[in-house]
This record gives sequence, C-alpha cells and structure tokens, in this order.
Amino acid sequence: SQNIYILGIESSCDDTAAAVLYNGKILSNVVATQEIHEKYGGVVPELASRAHQQNIVPVIHEAIKRAGITKNDLTAIAFTRGPGLMGSLLVGTSFAKSMALGMGIPLLDINHMQAHILAHFIEEDGFKTPEFPFICLTISGGHTQIVKVSDYFMMEVIGETMDDAVGEAFDKSAKILGLPYPGGPLVDKYAQAGNPEAFPFPKPKVGDLNFSFSGLKTSILYFIQKQVKDNPDFIKENLEDICASIQHTIIKILMDKLKKAVKQTGIKRIAIAGGVSANSGIRNALKEGEKKYGWETFIPKFEYTTDNAAMIAIAGHYKFLEKDFADMTITAKARIKF
Ligand code: KG4
Ligand code: ZN
Repeated sequence: SQNIYILGIESSCDDTAAAVLYNGKILSNVVATQEIHEKYGGVVPELASRAHQQNIVPVIHEAIKRAGITKNDLTAIAFTRGPGLMGSLLVGTSFAKSMALGMGIPLLDINHMQAHILAHFIEEDGFKTPEFPFICLTISGGHTQIVKVSDYFMMEVIGETMDDAVGEAFDKSAKILGLPYPGGPLVDKYAQAGNPEAFPFPKPKVGDLNFSFSGLKTSILYFIQKQVKDNPDFIKENLEDICASIQHTIIKILMDKLKKAVKQTGIKRIAIAGGVSANSGIRNALKEGEKKYGWETFIPKFEYTTDNAAMIAIAGHYKFLEKDFADMTITAKARIKF
C-alpha cells in the first residue's frame, strides 16, 4: 500500500479552503469564510474573487503546516473545477495548476457537487460510509439535487430544482424576516423554539423528483406583508413560529420527494450533503425515516456539510486511485453536469 497525501483546494463560492488528506484520513481542514458579503446580503462575485486571491496562499500554507508535513510530501493536488462562480473558480484552478506544475506532481480536477457527496467517504470515528448504490439529497445555497450514486464517480441526477435552491429558500425567507445573510442557520435556530404548524404555507406542485421553491418564497413574502400591515410587530412577536413553519414546509417538500425517490429506485440507503444538511430539522426528519420507512441514513459530520476542501481532497483521493489525472490545459467551468 502507498502513502497518499492529497492537498484539496476549494474556491467555488465565498469560502477559500484547503485541506490535507493522508490515505483517506483528514490531517488538516482550513476554511477562510469571507465576511465581506454579509453587508451586501449575498455573495458579490467580484469581491469574492478578490478575497480568494488574498486568502489562497495563507490558507494553503496553514493547511500544510497544520497537517504536520511539508509541501514536498504531497502526492497530488485536487481542486474544484466547477460548478461555481467563474471569478472564484479561476483563482483556485490557476493556483492548483501552477503548484502542480512547479512541483511536478499530478493534478486532479473535482466537481464540487460530487465532492459534497463524497465527503461521506472521509474516514471519521463514529461515522459510517454508505455502500453503493445510495441516494444522496444534495442541498446547498446553489443546488438542490437528488442523486443516484452507483460508484465514486458514477452519479446520476434524478431530480433537481426548477428555480431556487433550498439554501436560497432559507436565505430569502430569512431576508424577508429581516435576518442577516446567510439566514439559513438563524431560521434553524429560531425554528427550534417555534410551532411548525402555526402558519401553513402552500407546497408547490412539481412533477417527478423535481423541486420548486420560488413560489414558497413569494407566498411567505405576501403573508408577512399582509400581517405586518395589521400589526407592525408581527415578525418580532412570532419569529419562532414563523421560522418553524417555514422550515417545516421546506422539510416536508424534501421528504416527500425522497420517499418518491426510494419508491422509484428501490434504494433505501439515503445520504444528505451540502450546506443545508447542517439543518437540525432535516437531520431529525431523516432519522425519523429510519424508524418509519426502514431507511439507512447517512448524515455528514457538521464541518463537512458547508463548503470545505476536505471533500475536494477525498474526491481527489479516489480520482488518484483511478489515475484519472487532469492535464495542464484544463480550465475552470462555471456550469458542469456530472
Ligand atoms: O454548501 P454551502 O456552504 O455553499 C454552497 O455551495 O451553496 O451551503 C450554504 C447554504 C446557505 O444557503 C446557508 O444558509 C445554508 O447552506 N445553511 C443552512 C443551515 N446551515 C447552512 N440552512 C438551513 N439550516 C441550517 N442550519
Ligand atoms: Zn457547496
């Protein structure tokens, strides 16, 4: 057996991240989150790429240092090729190419969405890895997908959103309530003390395994506007119940499609991935699925849910084993299918 040290680099959105993995185990996992976007209420692409440019060298230095190795120990470099913001992807892509070229080691291009799923294969005490095939619900600020995973790089999107992503639904609802960006974690926090049945919101009618969240956002907006007209303190007085009701509706939408996906594929192993899989309500609903429907569920460790480079490194590890290297003409790609 060989000693494989993979450096993972992630720069697809607003987190600059680097991680070092040794034979599938994490040695270091560093994330620099860009706070600059908070005051704009969302990610500003131009500012994101500038911040990546500033952060990338210190973050990679730190990851190598915390791993207790030197850069000469590295076996290969894995980077996020896409999907994501072009200006952000270019920073990580260019850096990874230059470093691999300079050191004369292999380069591995990684699909960010596949990496979110492959985070389940990082070896961690107390976390089991799913057997193939399994179904993964990938839910983040940019994506909402149901994926049939047959092997490390054999994945098929069997359902996806027609408009907003789940994370956007959380963040835009939070914005309507006057909560700071990104509001998803705050909705989750307030929801835990609220009544999920307090305010019923309509669920979209979308066929197959697909999703739609833009209608929900609009109905929340109209509902809140109407209530605030009658009572200017409506949000303040009902924040916990409103958040619980929004979260309950979103989870119901997701769980209904997951049940449908299980029925359609016959696969009862269910994983969740992406930033929104940090949501406590979704985690509980999935656990309930084990008892109610006999599912076997896989919930990632919290730090591997939101954007990170550990997931890029583990995807790189398996690509390295397949000797599926990128060549030096590779470019970043804002939109990629599996
Ligand atoms: O995967 P991620 O870090 O970045 C993307 O690739 O988009 O996901 C970020 C998204 C944001 O929309 C954020 O509000 C949401 O994940 N999020 C949550 C929670 N934690 C993060 N949404 C609901 N509940 C949470 N606890
Ligand atoms: Zn992501």
